[in-house]
Amino acid sequence: ERGGYDHYMLKEINEQPEALERTINGRITDDGRVDLEEFPAGAFDGVSEVHFLSCGTSHHASMYAQQLLRDRGIPAHAFTAGEYATTPAPVSEDTLVIAVTQSGETADTLASLRSANARGARTLAVTNVVGSTAAREADEALFIRAGPEIGVAATKTFSSQVATLALVIERLVADVTGTPSEDSEAVLSALQELPDLVNRVIRDSTASSLANRYAGSDGHFFIGRGVAYPVAREGALKLKEISYEHAEGFSAGELKHGPLALVTSETPVVAVFSGKHDRKTLNNVEEVRSRGAPVIGVAPESADNVAAAVDEFLAVPETHPDVAGILANVQLQLVSYYVANVLNRSIDKPRNLAKSVTVE
Ligand code: F6R
Repeated sequence: ERGGYDHYMLKEINEQPEALERTINGRITDDGRVDLEEFPAGAFDGVSEVHFLSCGTSHHASMYAQQLLRDRGIPAHAFTAGEYATTPAPVSEDTLVIAVTQSGETADTLASLRSANARGARTLAVTNVVGSTAAREADEALFIRAGPEIGVAATKTFSSQVATLALVIERLVADVTGTPSEDSEAVLSALQELPDLVNRVIRDSTASSLANRYAGSDGHFFIGRGVAYPVAREGALKLKEISYEHAEGFSAGELKHGPLALVTSETPVVAVFSGKHDRKTLNNVEEVRSRGAPVIGVAPESADNVAAAVDEFLAVPETHPDVAGILANVQLQLVSYYVANVLNRSIDKPRNLAKSVTVE
């Protein structure tokens, strides 16, 4: 049932290329345009802003999408669903509210979705489960087609969520602004290559060799900017949830505003690079290295400046920076997996956690 893997988590990490194939299958035309059956050209006309509602890993996928929309000039905000359910942001009928939920059953996300529905927003569920409550209750639904995910820790669904949202975003930007985004063609071709690139990350990763050295540290900090920021947050969440190591993810610039006080030679720092804003993040790497922290850099393979500035280098294949974060995240999934494995944790069923959280 686990297909020869020791854990569902490792199986599902390895399934990402095929999951991503399904996610994008038929959704990009030969001449490089988005083709979403559910959302033909013009489907998003009139949308003035986008709210994302989600929890945990799905929230990090939403933060990633928020970044892509803002880069394209569209107002966007990724809210944690638990907050939005009690203190929602104002919406109008031109607000597109996207509930991002793998299971489609997360209570916080459903409560926030109901609040958006009741206040007259246009709502869309992006989910892995056909017939789920979120899919039924939102005005519209779009499926990420990742296939069933058994491990409690979300892995392949994150990648498929980000890829699905990237498609929605290119459709939406074309509709709202009347022309495809400047990066549309490049991003869509990067998405088509993504299954192969993820395959290469998994095949070539040296993450397992780091695990012995870094398991059992006082704390693990993850930093990044732009799309690398949600990936840093996701890397920290994954590590804490399956290894029980203390881990936190910060936007790279925020580190010096407090968390830096915790940085010592016993706190490895994982710095995530997408190929955009890298120079500034390198400054932050210098700040932590001068306090003695070992630094693991996750970056595009051509980033010699990153490789030269860090203690360990986890390379990902070259691609568009908007897609590079998905590849970096796969490296971080593998780091978490191997650290948890060295510590002999219950990887597929971490203590205190459930696959689907059905209470608020
Ligand atoms: C982390 C994880 C959780 C879920 C969160 C939302 O690995 O699995 O943080 O992402 O509970 O779940 P869904 O996406 O089902 O709404």
